[in-house]
Amino acid sequence: MKTKQLLACAIVAAGLVSLWACNNAPKTETVKTEPQKVNDWYGFGSDTLYGEHLVAILDCAICHTPKKMTEFGPVPDETRAFSGRPTDMPLPPIDRALAEKYGFMVMDGDGTAFIGPWGVSFAANLTPHATGIGSWSVEKFITTIREHKFKGIKEGRDLLPPMPFFTTITDDELKAVYAYLRTVKPIENMVPSALPPTSVKQ
Ligand code: HEC
Repeated sequence: MKTKQLLACAIVAAGLVSLWACNNAPKTETVKTEPQKVNDWYGFGSDTLYGEHLVAILDCAICHTPKKMTEFGPVPDETRAFSGRPTDMPLPPIDRALAEKYGFMVMDGDGTAFIGPWGVSFAANLTPHATGIGSWSVEKFITTIREHKFKGIKEGRDLLPPMPFFTTITDDELKAVYAYLRTVKPIENMVPSALPPTSVKQ
């Protein structure tokens, strides 16, 4: 045989041997691994720091923090962080029936009140004050967000727009968000109750 043929034979033989070896290798189960929860909260060191990061990237403040005016427009007012719609702030003079008829949403200048076909919704107070979520357990917090239910009452009403549907958020993520929100300054602010659409006679 010529060298080339010998080489070809050797390659085929090697291939067969490795095929045999693969077929006879002990079968290993593919185990699905969860993203590893490292003891240090995915590199953030603690649940509160991880929660702070999540709250920042999910931008809870854009709706839940009242705004202050700057030369670049309204920005979240850090001194009132996460305190929700201020109690006595009046709504702008909007024709609510028009928003209901055509299905659009109007956000007021403070960015904490939202007028639309559902009526008017007001961003909640998320601070650890009694008028916020001060008395809430972590379980109640998880049910509220995961199941999109007002005050975590399963039989109760759904949360209104524009509160996003964070229904696929994990327990670890929710626990971290909750842990962080326990550390922010408690602010007394009783957020007004949501209003039904004008078409609903009260
Ligand atoms: C686009 C605006 C918007 C964003 C962003 C937003 N929310 Fe909300 N959220 C609302 C509004 C409006 C309500 C009130 C809904 C209602 O009355 O049903 C609300 C309600 C809630 C409630 C329910 C309070 C209660 O009394 O039942 C919780 C808890 C909450 N938000 C937490 C969060 C957290 C945590 C984030 C960030 C991860 C977040 N929200 C991001 C607008 C928003």
